[in-house]
Amino acid sequence: MSARTTDPLGRATSMLGGSFTAEPHPCTHGTPVTAKPWVGAPGTVGTIAVIGSGKIGLPLALQFASHGWRVHAVDINQALVDIINSGVAPWGGEPNLPELLAEHVGSGRLRATIDGPAAVRDADVALVVVPVLVRDDGSIADKALVGATETLIAGAHDDLLVILETTVPIGTTRELVAKVAAKSGAKVFGCFSPERVLTGQTFRNLAAYPKLVGGTRHHRRPYCSA
Ligand SMILES: NC(=O)c1ccc[n+]([C@@H]2O[C@H](COP(=O)([O-])OP(=O)(O)OC[C@H]3O[C@@H](n4cnc5c(N)ncnc54)[C@H](O)[C@@H]3O)[C@@H](O)[C@H]2O)c1
Repeated sequence: MSARTTDPLGRATSMLGGSFTAEPHPCTHGTPVTAKPWVGAPGTVGTIAVIGSGKIGLPLALQFASHGWRVHAVDINQALVDIINSGVAPWGGEPNLPELLAEHVGSGRLRATIDGPAAVRDADVALVVVPVLVRDDGSIADKALVGATETLIAGAHDDLLVILETTVPIGTTRELVAKVAAKSGAKVFGCFSPERVLTGQTFRNLAAYPKLVGGTRHHRRPYCSA
């Protein structure tokens, strides 16, 4: 995917005890054509709202910008939004992030905002990558996901593609998408695309790892698993 990988290939220990080397995939598409609205046609790009612009969300937002997308980087942290919009990397330790941020903020391709609903309204795709944690007692701390869901409901429109990248319990995506569709009245597509990168090597991992994604579409109907 990324032609910007500069570090050696990722090497990691597999869960089976061996090791593997993930080969980065070269970017095979040509110059993307901007489509409005974006309907997923090959070779086209549109506008994406990335909800949660942290250690994973910001590199993901930049990866989209690098491949021709207009990007709204959404966060509830105004200080972080201001730093991103200044074009300066909010943290160190992520190779390529400073250069890509300077490039895409400078060109206006990426802008950060705390106005999530407006970003979603303007976007063809809304990607959620806010933290969901497990407490010591095993319960799920999903405040950020609840907040992101409210943002989606406020900004949803017909044919919006909602992608959840946060690691979540089984069933969370369909519940989230069904809720967004039911409460907003919009016909939205839903997709779960779990993020498998590690902070500190995000761009390298994005270029190397294959992804298994699942999707569904809701036409204002609650999800039914029967
Ligand atoms: N960190 C990793 O190495 C890693 C690897 C793979 C997957 N992930 C997944 O990515 C998720 C996010 O991880 P991270 O490291 O980016 O977290 P992070 O804490 O660095 O960033 C999360 C961001 O989301 C923002 N946020 C919280 N609630 C929000 C809301 N309602 N609307 C908009 N923004 C909101 C926070 O202000 C913060 O800036 C994790 O929970 C995990 O599921 C992380």
